[in-house]
Amino acid sequence: MRLKGKTAAITGVASPNGLGFAIAKAFCSQGATVHICDIDAKAAADCSEALNAAGFQSIARRLDVTSEPDWSDFLKPIARDNGRLDILVNNAGISRRALTEDIKIADWRQVIEVNLTGAFLGCQQAIQIMQGQPGGGSIINIASISALAAFPQSSAYGASKGGLRQLSKVVALEGASRKIRCNTIFPGMIATDLLRDLAKTSPDQIAEQTAKIPVGRIGDPSDVAQCAIFLASEESSYMTGAEITVDGGYQI
Ligand SMILES: NC(=O)c1ccc[n+]([C@@H]2O[C@H](COP(=O)([O-])OP(=O)(O)OC[C@H]3O[C@@H](n4cnc5c(N)ncnc54)[C@H](O)[C@@H]3O)[C@@H](O)[C@H]2O)c1
Repeated sequence: MRLKGKTAAITGVASPNGLGFAIAKAFCSQGATVHICDIDAKAAADCSEALNAAGFQSIARRLDVTSEPDWSDFLKPIARDNGRLDILVNNAGISRRALTEDIKIADWRQVIEVNLTGAFLGCQQAIQIMQGQPGGGSIINIASISALAAFPQSSAYGASKGGLRQLSKVVALEGASRKIRCNTIFPGMIATDLLRDLAKTSPDQIAEQTAKIPVGRIGDPSDVAQCAIFLASEESSYMTGAEITVDGGYQI
């Protein structure tokens, strides 16, 4: 019960195979109440039902991370009804693969909007709530090893996650004196729908990258979720601005 009594908000929770759901389930199993959201309201509600059927406490609502009013409608009631918001996980993300010379400007903008501006809005509104709380809060941003190394056809995705990396550090620095921590997880290849879609379009690239993972396997969503529990809990109270790869050693 490492998160007993804590209230968490997690974005991008719409698939039982996704990172968001794994984090939500892991947080619930450690005693947290989780507020999950996604642009796909029905799928988020299904995820919440699955959690509640397992005896956990979760609430779902629709949120488009690129919408400032949506963020307000999501976070303010959580703070009002629970008296606090302890944890925010900015997990929602999209990828649009294309060579730099081919990527459509609309796709570029959408990736930056969702992956970077969406997380920025979440950080901004979470800070406004957390700064007034005695214990502060913990913000966890889900980036990618694409923020640390270059991969082909990922200029928009890599730039968005690289921007998220730097955003996290500024939030950590500014929040430190107010007990608001902000840490970043950099997942490598994790077996979610996002990766399965990529495997359909670029199977050779997946096979090539898998062969480069020192521990010899693709990650499971629970590998990322275990790291998120640690960053959300008091066990990591002296950590902020930290960057943790969960990639089977890929970045060594
Ligand atoms: N799977 C991997 O190998 C991997 C690796 C590195 C990083 N990541 C990152 O982990 C996070 C989760 O990825 P996943 O693999 O679980 O993918 P996923 O596609 O299962 O989950 C992403 C979720 O974000 C939601 N979403 C998209 N646009 C949104 C918006 N505007 N507002 C709210 N929600 C929106 C989607 O509906 C989806 O449910 C993403 O940020 C991704 O970039 C994944």
